[in-house]
Amino acid sequence: MERVIHLTRPSFGEAEAAAVARVLASGMLIQGAEVLAFEEAVGRYLQALDAGASPVHCVAVSTGTTALELALGTRGRDGPAVGLGDEVLVPAVTWPSPGHAALLRGATAVLVDVSPDTWCMDPRRAAEVLTPRTRALIPIDQFGVPADVAALRALAGDVDLVEDSACALGSRVKGRACGLLGDVGVYSFHPRKVVTTGEGGMLVTRDRARAEAFRMLRNHGQVSPGVFLEAGPNARLSELHAALGVAQLAKLPALLARRAQLAARVKEGLALAWQAAPEGAEVNHQTLGFVLPQPPAGTRREARDALVAALRADGVEAGILSYGLHRLPQFARYAVNATRRFPVADVVVDGGLALPLHPGMSDADADAVASAVRRHAGWALGRRVWQ
Ligand SMILES: Cc1ncc(COP(=O)(O)O)c(C=O)c1O
Repeated sequence: MERVIHLTRPSFGEAEAAAVARVLASGMLIQGAEVLAFEEAVGRYLQALDAGASPVHCVAVSTGTTALELALGTRGRDGPAVGLGDEVLVPAVTWPSPGHAALLRGATAVLVDVSPDTWCMDPRRAAEVLTPRTRALIPIDQFGVPADVAALRALAGDVDLVEDSACALGSRVKGRACGLLGDVGVYSFHPRKVVTTGEGGMLVTRDRARAEAFRMLRNHGQVSPGVFLEAGPNARLSELHAALGVAQLAKLPALLARRAQLAARVKEGLALAWQAAPEGAEVNHQTLGFVLPQPPAGTRREARDALVAALRADGVEAGILSYGLHRLPQFARYAVNATRRFPVADVVVDGGLALPLHPGMSDADADAVASAVRRHAGWALGRRVWQ
């Protein structure tokens, strides 16, 4: 069978195999030296990446989703944990985790349309739905591109800003690391991310008290062994996952450099509506995505689906970009979402396409992706897409 260029593949090698073997030999499987080492390694990495001086506290948890739930479940910048009747602003385009985190707290996830260029929460649209009940904002660094957290802060004052940097480890803007732009940042180590541990997540903050609350909550609400202060989940990361994280983090600069090279190689000469980054941003190239324009005939979604199918038939595993939360019943049942429109989200969700990008790709793979797009996209769009 013809070789497939996968959308994503983890970059695992001998270091990861040795890390797993080390944990197996230790007999210690949860919340031990590896988790601590992973937290410290991410802390050092962020400290070097970010211009801020005060210490960064890192708390490893089982997934990025759990990290978001703990972020909303702890005392925030301006008061108690998010609860019943509160409102949390979430971008309309995303994997549902941040919206679900709000709903699981009994709060309303108020959806916000995204910016047409970066696909991140649009501060102008956020301004329209801020109310005295708004208790948190969850801007997403969409596919590793920094959200305009500074504009959202100026808008929302002391409302808690939980930065969903699930995709954005290694990205920064104007010298500030994604994850440290708000009050709390959240990373995911899902296999699609630039650093993967299989499943895994991390909370980062410069607020020591909040970090302590995360440590307590992630471990059944225990403050010390056998002393349970609050109802908390088992959100611990295993030693096996953490050991993978330590090995992956050591390679991160090299992985990001290779991603940047490959992304540039694929994009060269292809005149498509690629995701844009704000001024001063250095992105981690977690996803290589573009949005199709309205085709001369049929819908944008039909053209996108046809292009995905054609690329896949050629061994290029393209995929859709993301989901529109306004179309999901658990969000649409709130009038604040059902009565508003999300025109940019509709364009990104229906016309968005992700191309393969991972450090294991060769230059020839990148060229094969670009030429498959050249072969098929013009046909899907009814126009030339190469220069
Ligand atoms: C923007 C965003 N937030 C949160 C998550 C959830 O992360 P995890 O899969 O680690 O639970 C994802 C996952 O893919 C994501 O893309």
